[in-house]
Amino acid sequence: MANDHHTAPPSLALCVTTKDFEAAAKTVLPKEAWVYASSSAASGLSLQSNLDDWSRINFRPRIMRSVRLPNPTRYILGQPGSQPFFVSAMGVLGEAHPGAEPLLVRGATRKGLHIVVSTASTKSLEEIMKAHLDEQCQLGNQSPSKLAFQLYVPVDRNLARSLIRRVKAAGYHSLWITVDTSTLGKRTAARYLQAQEAVDQGGQQTVPEAAAGNAFGPALGGRPVPGSLDPGLNWEELAWITDEWDGPIVLKGIQTVEDVKLAVQHGVQGVLLSNHGGRQIHSAPSALMTLLETRTYYPEAFDKLEIFVDGGLRDGADVLKALCLGATAVGVGRPYFYAMAAYGIEGVEKCTDVLAEEVEITMKMLGVSSFDQLRPEMVNASRLLNEMWRPDIWWNKSKL
Ligand SMILES: Cc1cc2nc3c(=O)[nH]c(=O)nc-3n(C[C@H](O)[C@H](O)[C@H](O)COP(=O)(O)O)c2cc1C
Repeated sequence: MANDHHTAPPSLALCVTTKDFEAAAKTVLPKEAWVYASSSAASGLSLQSNLDDWSRINFRPRIMRSVRLPNPTRYILGQPGSQPFFVSAMGVLGEAHPGAEPLLVRGATRKGLHIVVSTASTKSLEEIMKAHLDEQCQLGNQSPSKLAFQLYVPVDRNLARSLIRRVKAAGYHSLWITVDTSTLGKRTAARYLQAQEAVDQGGQQTVPEAAAGNAFGPALGGRPVPGSLDPGLNWEELAWITDEWDGPIVLKGIQTVEDVKLAVQHGVQGVLLSNHGGRQIHSAPSALMTLLETRTYYPEAFDKLEIFVDGGLRDGADVLKALCLGATAVGVGRPYFYAMAAYGIEGVEKCTDVLAEEVEITMKMLGVSSFDQLRPEMVNASRLLNEMWRPDIWWNKSKL
């Protein structure tokens, strides 16, 4: 459990892997913030399989292929980015660092990364965009970074429409609708903390003090924010959202090949295969398993829309495994939360450097100098394929 008192983290120079940011954050974060970031649904199975499954795939590296200058540029929805990874949507970043979302965005912009900004941000979406534009200005508009917006569709559709209009007016380039959150998952560690606080205060339920002024304060205690998540959301609603937004749309939180197919049929530009970092349904498939399922049963999808993956990616090698299997790019969540919590903007930059270096050295040793040379046969996914869902047992493939 994290400390209740702020202590100095180890020197940033000692952060050699993304895991080191986690250990450092644990030493500096107040307990509520640590629990908010690290917690997951129920017993943690969904989170654990995200983490484990990347390590159950091996590469099949090729040699002597002249790989002197690998090019890390990757396009996401038509926008070039400095790397094949982006920062996944995370809410309430004011709990990680007083600089909150603007600080994360500045750090990522310096590094040319795309960032998905959460509906549940501590700061307004306009303020976050301003930080990005200010940073761009200081960089002479040389950064390829773009901001995308993650949307939780509020129950009140008028509010939803006005929110989408604000996002558009502010200049966000794509809308990532979170579709795995019909309700908030049962975040066990947050529940214990909340229960302990209630017991300590003689039965009174409280919102952690630091978050009390934030509309998304309750999220920190693992409780749904009234009106912000709608179990009534359905596929038909994509029509009005598409009309209102009039730009690229990605569905975030797809967990089966059937829903990838529906996303294609509904004409969205991308899907983010994700189990929300293991925070939503207990016993979810890992993001990687859903990628394998899609690769196996509906490979046409990769030509019809862009397929992103997030959850448990902790090494540049994991990023390349996803790309071998056809992902356009991957999202990284907690490592950025932890890096920012422990080291502020330098942490955000270093976390990017760590992953970028791992991507580069792995590319070289894999025998590729550009991402379009990555192929499914460059990984051995047999172990996971053995455990993949099989339609032929009870299910007729023609239903897909
Ligand atoms: C602290 C935290 C806050 C998050 N907040 C949101 C959110 O507001 N909206 C959302 O769609 N996903 C949210 N997520 C899920 C992430 O977008 C992403 O799917 C997940 O973190 C990826 O897994 P990883 O943390 O293992 O990299 C959050 C995740 C974390 C860790």
